[in-house]
Amino acid sequence: MIYSGKAIAVQATDGGIAELCFDLKDESVNKFNALTLNELKEAIAAIAADSSLKGVVVTSGKPVFIVGADITEFATQFGGSEDETAEKILKINLDIFNAFEDLPMPTVAAINGIALGGGLEMGLVCDYRVMSDTARIGLPETKLGIIPGYGGTTRLPRLIGADNAIEWIASGKEQKAEQALKFGAVDAVVAPELLREAAMSLLQQCIDGKLDYKAKRREKQEPLKLNQVEAMMVFETAKGFIAGKAGPHYPAPVTAIKVMQKAAGMSRDDALREEARGIAKMSGTLAAKNLIGLFLSDQVLAKSGKSLAKKARKVERAAVLGAGIMGGGIAYQSALKGTPIVMKDIAQAGIDLGLAEASKLLSKQVERGRMSVAEMAGVLNKIHPSLSYDGFENVDVVVEAIVENPKVKHAVLAETESQIRDDAILASNTSTISITHLAEPLKRPENFCGMHFFNPVHRMPLVEIIRGEKTGDEAVARTVAYALAMGKKPIVVNDCPGFLVNRILSPYIGAFMGLVRRGVDFTLIDKVMERFGWPMGPAYLCDVVGIDTGVHAGAVMAEGFPERMKYDFKTSHEVMYENDRLGQKNGRGYYAYETDKRGRPKKLVDKDVAALLAPIIDGDETLDDETIVDSMMIPMCLEAVRCLEDGIAASATDVDLSLIYGIGFPPFRGGALHYVDDFGVDKFVARADELAAATGPLKAMYLPTEKLRAMAASGDTFFGTAASGRK
Ligand SMILES: NC(=O)c1ccc[n+]([C@@H]2O[C@H](COP(=O)([O-])OP(=O)(O)OC[C@H]3O[C@@H](n4cnc5c(N)ncnc54)[C@H](O)[C@@H]3O)[C@@H](O)[C@H]2O)c1
Repeated sequence: MIYSGKAIAVQATDGGIAELCFDLKDESVNKFNALTLNELKEAIAAIAADSSLKGVVVTSGKPVFIVGADITEFATQFGGSEDETAEKILKINLDIFNAFEDLPMPTVAAINGIALGGGLEMGLVCDYRVMSDTARIGLPETKLGIIPGYGGTTRLPRLIGADNAIEWIASGKEQKAEQALKFGAVDAVVAPELLREAAMSLLQQCIDGKLDYKAKRREKQEPLKLNQVEAMMVFETAKGFIAGKAGPHYPAPVTAIKVMQKAAGMSRDDALREEARGIAKMSGTLAAKNLIGLFLSDQVLAKSGKSLAKKARKVERAAVLGAGIMGGGIAYQSALKGTPIVMKDIAQAGIDLGLAEASKLLSKQVERGRMSVAEMAGVLNKIHPSLSYDGFENVDVVVEAIVENPKVKHAVLAETESQIRDDAILASNTSTISITHLAEPLKRPENFCGMHFFNPVHRMPLVEIIRGEKTGDEAVARTVAYALAMGKKPIVVNDCPGFLVNRILSPYIGAFMGLVRRGVDFTLIDKVMERFGWPMGPAYLCDVVGIDTGVHAGAVMAEGFPERMKYDFKTSHEVMYENDRLGQKNGRGYYAYETDKRGRPKKLVDKDVAALLAPIIDGDETLDDETIVDSMMIPMCLEAVRCLEDGIAASATDVDLSLIYGIGFPPFRGGALHYVDDFGVDKFVARADELAAATGPLKAMYLPTEKLRAMAASGDTFFGTAASGRK
């Protein structure tokens, strides 16, 4: 044994070959944590000191190669000043990764499974890379708001060309073996069982002088082979394109390109210095802080979901009531992910529509080459359309997705309960009606809960699982298990009007209608909020959701929370509704809609709308962008605070993840409660009070809670300041 640690072992094999094997003790995956980096340094020194060695093969003792850096350690790694962080990262590169690359013998990586971030960068310091055909490689750092830091931006462009490296790094996408070989990121792809043998054979060819590993190594250490004109073409074009795609709030992809551009003419070590500066700079951005935080929160959520699901009986068969927009989507998603589902409607037309929608979505996947025709047929065969309750006696879960009417839902839920097994779970996809109220006619209310999907079901990750007063643990656990099986992100919440997400969204829409009333142009509000980071502004969002749906939901919220959500003025929504402007669904709402060449609705400003709104406008205020943002965001954030205080959500993290996954809250801002923390709780409270004084009839939705005032006074925050890096 040449070296033996808790993460790495180095053993001499036949013919003077050292096998450096990553196998992190007590963990299911290999990752670059401080321990592994330390051991790698020691292992390299041990290899360098052994003059009998002729080559090194790098392997993994786990099903993955190395998944990347240990993200839980980012806070410590990025905790210092920008210069300190850059120095620290550069030192790791010089002392460890360069030391490995500079070993006086050939090196080969045997990539058996996932090699991402630091994992791929470990592969890149080897002279050759052999990859299993089932493995995947990539540099996903820009998705976390940072850039590769262990030589990725330095070595990858020198290996696969600047244009390809830009694409890989800016997109952060995982690459399959076929792609990796095509672009030259790896030298051979073999079946998993042949990987070791292939890596050994390649290494032997280097040792025997049949392959010039030194020349191969030099390629990664010299400046990029691009002349000035080529370099300008590649980098400048990419910067423009990627900046447009990523948008101003996500600076990492463009920074990675800038680093590659600046380092193009540099030697390896100078390029690495540039890279270290780039990652240090990015690590201090709001996007990095919040995207890294989001990644970690997401892991916590996944873990708690899985542990809940473990306690429940697996859902082998499901049913959905209603084959409309939502029911059709639920049936499609369930079948796609492998759970057969009975789709019941009262009208054949409904069923036809549900099936047509599923076929349309599946055909798109076939067109894009993501699915074969046979697989598509397999999925469709898992949807069993029905006009009766046939098959309901065998299902483990029924999701109700019929019309949003409490009386009809009561009757249908009670009827369904009589058709299913005593231990089957009934879940309602209602968007507004109290789960406790819906449970009233049921004989087994403990087997009933809410399962609130977002539209469109196949695209929106969140499912709120709502616990009513009488909902039992098995109902929650099994519904969570089913949502997970459908590839969704379930978050368990308590019952209240609007549940968690729509309750928080409601004052945001109220604030919008308040601004319109004060004479602020709604197209300006949309533009400002889109610049803030929302995928669409509030007026456009309401058009997409449907003005009728908005009016209906607004009435429920007004009844539930009259002090904050009942408005004593005629709203712009009411004006739209009265004028049959229902939004995208009938081609006119706040905007008018046309169908573009690709058949998609295109939004246009409709001059008629200003005239329609004129009678309800009471003012002609010109507000600056910051006031518009604060006027919109503060009521939303305050409702998020109230939901946490009222125990509707179990944690601040649940609140923020729900908003990101349910309504596209800008991920780089981390969610409403992260936003309050980043604003500064004391400053947020002061600004809320200021706006409350200026807002007239909407004052109540701008007033901070007493607990939030206490937090502001004591300097407390929702997430702690040091949790995710430099502020
Ligand atoms: N559309 C959304 O954006 C959205 C989002 C989340 C939740 N929801 C909720 O989902 C539910 C369904 O909404 P939708 O938009 O899909 O409505 P929809 O009108 O598109 O579909 C409802 C379907 O239910 C069928 N139906 C009516 N009574 C039935 C019965 N007794 N048995 C079986 N089928 C019956 C109708 O024929 C229709 O096909 C509502 O509770 C709604 O609030 C909707």
